[in-house]
Amino acid sequence: MARPKIKIAPSILAADFSNLERDVKRADRAGADTIHVDVMDGMFVPNLTIGMPVVAALRPHTRKPLDVHLMIERPIRYVQRFREAGADIITVHAEACGPALGKTLKEIRRSGAKAGVSLKPKSPLRLIQKHLKAADMVLLMTVEPGFGGQKFHAEVLPKIRDLRRVFRQDIEVDGGINTETVSLAAAAGANVFVAGVSVFGQRNIGRAIADLRSKAEHAGYH
Ligand code: DX5
Ligand code: ZN
Repeated sequence: MARPKIKIAPSILAADFSNLERDVKRADRAGADTIHVDVMDGMFVPNLTIGMPVVAALRPHTRKPLDVHLMIERPIRYVQRFREAGADIITVHAEACGPALGKTLKEIRRSGAKAGVSLKPKSPLRLIQKHLKAADMVLLMTVEPGFGGQKFHAEVLPKIRDLRRVFRQDIEVDGGINTETVSLAAAAGANVFVAGVSVFGQRNIGRAIADLRSKAEHAGYH
């Protein structure tokens, strides 16, 4: 199955939190396709980050889609409020929704956002199989969610390949993506690449984004 357009999604988790407006504008100008926003609740993952007010505060500073990754328990409670804050894509974890996954994805689409569903590295595709039609994007985590700057789990590559055989929309990968691992994930069929440290940790973020994009485009997925 053909791979859709390559997109690079810088994660503001690696930006300067005291200068988020500046960093989001920089990523926008540097060629980001979407801006990835990591929301953590200290329950689903052992870390806390940001919530709706920060999404709302960033909204006026970019016209790029805000790709909001909810690492929170029972995310259905907050779908409407993230949409109102300005989220364009809302991604929830299958593990955090349990039996309410179908209802949650429906609620995201009803809010007007695109619906994403995510799996941790060890979670099988079986958990989302019957929900693929309700999803505009699948996010396959390539690290355990919770922290930036971790090492890419290559064991996820077969899962990307298996998913691409049956899913023609966006497959996003998140965690440990750099100029080497981006090629592996792209060759397996992923087309949306979240990058924290490998974008915001670089001096020239325009060049960082362009390098990731060109590596992904030349990775030769057929
Ligand atoms: C981790 C987050 C990631 C994180 C990736 O739980 O979901 O989006 O920012 O950071 P890097 O690209 O630095 O591994
Ligand atoms: Zn993320």
